[in-house]
Amino acid sequence: SALVLRTVAETTAWVDSLRRSGRRLALVPTMGYLHEGHQSLIREGRRRADVVAASIFVNPTQFGPNEDLSRYPRDFEGDLAKCTSAGAEAVFAPAPEEMYPPGFQTHVEVGKVSQGLCGARRPGHFQGVATVVTKLLGLFKPQVALFGEKDYQQLQVIRALVRDLNLGVEIVGMPTVREPDGLALSSRNAYLSTEERRRALALSRGMAAAQALYERGTRDTASLVDAARRELAAVDLREDYVEVVDATSLTSLSSVTPGQPARILVAAFAGKTRLIDNQPIGG
Ligand code: PAJ
Repeated sequence: SALVLRTVAETTAWVDSLRRSGRRLALVPTMGYLHEGHQSLIREGRRRADVVAASIFVNPTQFGPNEDLSRYPRDFEGDLAKCTSAGAEAVFAPAPEEMYPPGFQTHVEVGKVSQGLCGARRPGHFQGVATVVTKLLGLFKPQVALFGEKDYQQLQVIRALVRDLNLGVEIVGMPTVREPDGLALSSRNAYLSTEERRRALALSRGMAAAQALYERGTRDTASLVDAARRELAAVDLREDYVEVVDATSLTSLSSVTPGQPARILVAAFAGKTRLIDNQPIGG
């Protein structure tokens, strides 16, 4: 079974000995309740490095006051087995006080790319993400860290952070792993009732409808966004946002043009559960 690291001190010792042996380390940060999406990151880490460490930490600072921190799903023993079978050698699972001891007072704030979309709807969220990811990268000093495109804005925020602060780690973005019917895997899918699970398909269906419209010649993003919105509305999913943006800067686009990679990003509520998804749009 993977080695369980609970403290910063233990982790520092483990990382030091790894570095002395000259082995390449990949880091996969997670909040646990792992699924095939997380495992795909660990497996790719094995391909890109000699050793993979995963972290499992439900980071309180990235949750808003009315969000699901207290009911976020947890299954440490199951997660440990999944990390081990995917090839992680160590799992860092600290207590909140280990990450945020008394006197903690430093925060990482990424600019523009963190401000729209989820950043606008979840104040403080990306500051929490950027701060904990900076801590994890500082602790593990991995050569490579892997993140999913499922959280596309998060991936771009982390790319900006690593570039701007010269963190010297290669960031690898991995494709979204989906259920056979198209639903993106997410730990939060565990909250969905059978009926909500069925309606949740409107996110991927809506993005597919927008892409289909593009393929029939529509270029203006208002029409593409409308096509996705109609799918959400058809099953009474409450939209949080639907936007077509530049794939790197995440600035909104008025039309999709050849040579400028674009992405459609969707966030919607199935009951109390907030779901997000995204995909490339264009040709
Ligand atoms: P979490 O939601 O647990 O996700 C951990 C990593 O798994 C992220 O990089 C996320 O994009 C990726 N992931 C989630 N679902 C995926 C899917 N269906 N396919 C591929 N990858 C997927 O994202 C976080 O945790 C946190 O914000 C974290 C980065 C750990 C900071 O606390």
